[in-house]
Amino acid sequence: MKYMGSKARIAKHILPIILRDRKPGQWYVEPFVGGANTIDKVDGFRIGADVNKYLIAMYKLLNTYGIPEHLVDISKPTYSDARDQYNERKNKLFSDAHIGWVGYMASANGRFYEGGYSGKSKTNTGKIRNYIDESVRNIMRQLPSLAGIDFRCSSYEDLEIPSDSIIYCDIPYKGTKQYATVCKKFNYPDFWQWCRGMVNQGHKVFVSEYQAPDDFVCVWEQEVKSSLSANGKVGGNKKSTEKLFIHESQIK
Ligand SMILES: C[S@@+](CC[C@H](N)C(=O)[O-])C[C@H]1O[C@@H](n2cnc3c(N)ncnc32)[C@H](O)[C@@H]1O
Repeated sequence: MKYMGSKARIAKHILPIILRDRKPGQWYVEPFVGGANTIDKVDGFRIGADVNKYLIAMYKLLNTYGIPEHLVDISKPTYSDARDQYNERKNKLFSDAHIGWVGYMASANGRFYEGGYSGKSKTNTGKIRNYIDESVRNIMRQLPSLAGIDFRCSSYEDLEIPSDSIIYCDIPYKGTKQYATVCKKFNYPDFWQWCRGMVNQGHKVFVSEYQAPDDFVCVWEQEVKSSLSANGKVGGNKKSTEKLFIHESQIK
């Protein structure tokens, strides 16, 4: 799914490292699942969690009932009504899953109710692009690979993780645009301390970030051009270096 901070483009590079020593039956856990653009390329036992209740309600609905055909056409008034309910958090026209669906399928640049209504527009070459249709087709293609994921709405600290799991954390990058759906400011020292705790409990922990405390080691890095992705700026062509970290005690 089109998502701010998506790892769709680097998943093929980092997953072979993350999954290298995966044992049969071992759980793969993503506490910051977002657009599910990495977990959708993993098989076996999987937990995908996120603090965004609209996102998780939407995934649960899609995994149970499939694409809601009657909701595929999203008009501008429907988008505005859903956005009002989301912003004002009142009236009960839409379920959380429906707010998620409208917000992710019809917000410009994959920015949940922040980028305005995407709809259709003419490109420089005169071609008409239907962005909602593209988003729906995109998630339609992704859906089979989401089947079987245990989606949970939770903040990472409260997530119950099966013992001896592989945990991949794609956190909101420090210094980049934060997620409007997340009320609490992300506390980076607390997060890294939680990672140390998870490693001590016997999990294997991998983190995507630009920087990490000294006891974490970069095991992969690559320069990427980010438009909607890593630098959090929409439409830019800034280059950034994606990195993957593990705790020093995990190095064999
Ligand atoms: C960089 S995005 C993940 C993108 C995803 N890997 C992809 O490829 O689509 C980070 C996610 O972390 C979530 N998030 C932010 N704070 C969180 C927290 N405290 N606990 C769990 N999820 C959180 C946001 O809602 C967002 O979906």
